[in-house]
Amino acid sequence: MATEEREPLTRVPTHVAIIMDGNGRWAKAHGLPRVAGHRAGTENIRRILEACVDFGVKILTIYAFSTENWSRPPEEVESLMRLFGEVIDRETKRLKAQGVQIRHIGSLDRIPEHLKHKMLAAIEQTKDNDRLILNVAFNYGGRAEIVHAIRRMMADGLAPEQVTEEVVSSYLYTAGLPDPDLVIRTAGEMRLSNFLIWQSAYAEYYSTPVYWPDFDREELYKALVAYSQRERRYGRVLDQ
Ligand code: IPE
Ligand code: IPE
Ligand code: MG
Repeated sequence: MATEEREPLTRVPTHVAIIMDGNGRWAKAHGLPRVAGHRAGTENIRRILEACVDFGVKILTIYAFSTENWSRPPEEVESLMRLFGEVIDRETKRLKAQGVQIRHIGSLDRIPEHLKHKMLAAIEQTKDNDRLILNVAFNYGGRAEIVHAIRRMMADGLAPEQVTEEVVSSYLYTAGLPDPDLVIRTAGEMRLSNFLIWQSAYAEYYSTPVYWPDFDREELYKALVAYSQRERRYGRVLDQ
């Protein structure tokens, strides 16, 4: 559908978070090895990022590699690390020119040295951009994030009464960013898989059977329409 034929969105989420799932199943459906699915998946990131800019989304968080994904076969983990490095090499310049600020959420431990350098360089090069924040959850786990936050609070010597919800939020990797309004999961599963478990407490959840490499601008638009029709009550009653 051409952009001008679409119904305008009545309410656009500020922060969209996506669990990019289904690369393996996409590859299988095409008779290809899993790594081909991951390659197609990384190519899709640019398409969705551009659509987010056009639709007016301000923050996009993508789940690229979880702390649990280290348990996959070593060859697959290696391919994912390599592909991620290739994406940074290929995309950073363009993202910089488009006004995208790249951030990382997750732990840098265990990430191969050369990849860590690429990540830190991309973050540094785009830090002054403000058109859209792209948060890449890589070696990210929600529970690990909370443990990391608790350890830092203790190391800072916080007294129990100083630990409020706001303070906990400020110790998470997403400190300073608003919580996600919409969490999208591709490939049909109905679970969070350890993604933003604190931050998405009141996010709207949208799951589609479409595999990530096939999740295009139209599919994103459908998710945004669904979001605009949700009623966010935060525990209150209507017309309060
Ligand atoms: C998501 O696709 C990518 C990562 C988790 C890195 P999967 O690799 O999980 O694809 P499926 O779930 O096996 O189809
Ligand atoms: C979640 O997908 C992690 C990412 C998309 C990076 P998984 O495929 O790892 O999740 P599970 O194993 O189905 O819960
Ligand atoms: Mg999966």
